[in-house]
Amino acid sequence: MSTPVIQVRDLRKAYGDLQAVAGVSFEVAEGEVFGMLGPNGAGKTTTVEILEGLRIRDSGEVSVLGMNPATSGRDFKRLVGVQLQQVALYPRLRVHEVISLFGSFYEQQAETEELIALMGLEDRRNARIAELSGGQAQRLSVALAVVNMPRLVFLDEPSTGMDPQARRNLWDIIEGFKARGMTVVLTTHYMEEAERLCDRVAVMDHGRIIALDSPSALVRENFAEDAIEFVSNDGLSEHDLGELAAVTSAASQGSAHSIFSSDIPRTMGSLLDLAQERGAPLEGMRVRHATLEDVFLKLTGRTLRD
Ligand SMILES: Nc1ncnc2c1ncn2[C@@H]1O[C@H](COP(=O)(O)OP(=O)(O)OP(=O)(O)O)[C@@H](O)[C@H]1O
Ligand SMILES: [Mg+2]
Repeated sequence: MSTPVIQVRDLRKAYGDLQAVAGVSFEVAEGEVFGMLGPNGAGKTTTVEILEGLRIRDSGEVSVLGMNPATSGRDFKRLVGVQLQQVALYPRLRVHEVISLFGSFYEQQAETEELIALMGLEDRRNARIAELSGGQAQRLSVALAVVNMPRLVFLDEPSTGMDPQARRNLWDIIEGFKARGMTVVLTTHYMEEAERLCDRVAVMDHGRIIALDSPSALVRENFAEDAIEFVSNDGLSEHDLGELAAVTSAASQGSAHSIFSSDIPRTMGSLLDLAQERGAPLEGMRVRHATLEDVFLKLTGRTLRD
């Protein structure tokens, strides 16, 4: 196996009393799409920006493409692409001008018009940055991250603010990066995004990685079962649901309930009996496989977007 593109061991970073990254270790292989999934404040951006050389770590070992991002120079910038969670671009410049400008900082640069087409910004080619919608600005920031045709690209919540169509386009684009052999590190709150794109996902919470594996393995390790999902406003508690036949766990968020079952027909039968007994209506009932969202809820007791 080739040397990992990224190696991180016991990384730590505090802001005053707050331990934002509290001892994180992982590796990213060449050509991998590696996800960091976690709620607000989990420490994703802090971790990623340390790897990008934009923040200085307190302690721990970090190697990115064999370099220390804290002290590396031109080689690093040539090989690494960065999309920041917050972008401040020149508001009066036009889209194509910004892309050309950023490209001009590098010896190797992608074709401006190709990037515009790739990101679906043809209509907005001559628009000023200040005139872009949030989702369009987001697409531009992804284009800028690959303007130097990097070997490794960091995308910090690339799909935030995008409509569903743009998000799906972005997924295709990221798959295109992967197909060209680029290594991608991305952060997200969207489990569908992580499930669809990532070879492996680090689930982060409170500055720690609480699980790390492929999306399917994370689900498999945590749930041997499928879930029955439904909405019921009346009188069914998490506790009642947990007592139903063949139920292994139950999770309720207000009136929305999920119960995990090792035997769907048995659980379904006892759920219908209970609902009838209580006179509780069951709405929108469906059976589904467990997801990364369920894994997160199981590991932390919270949802990703609390
Ligand atoms: N420059 C800073 N100064 C002080 N505290 C900071 C700074 N940057 C981040 N923090 C704090 O560190 C913690 C981790 O923040 P970070 O931005 O890494 O989280 P995140 O996982 O990227 O969250 P989000 O999903 O909201 O982007 C948060 O509690 C945040 O308030
Ligand atoms: Mg962040």
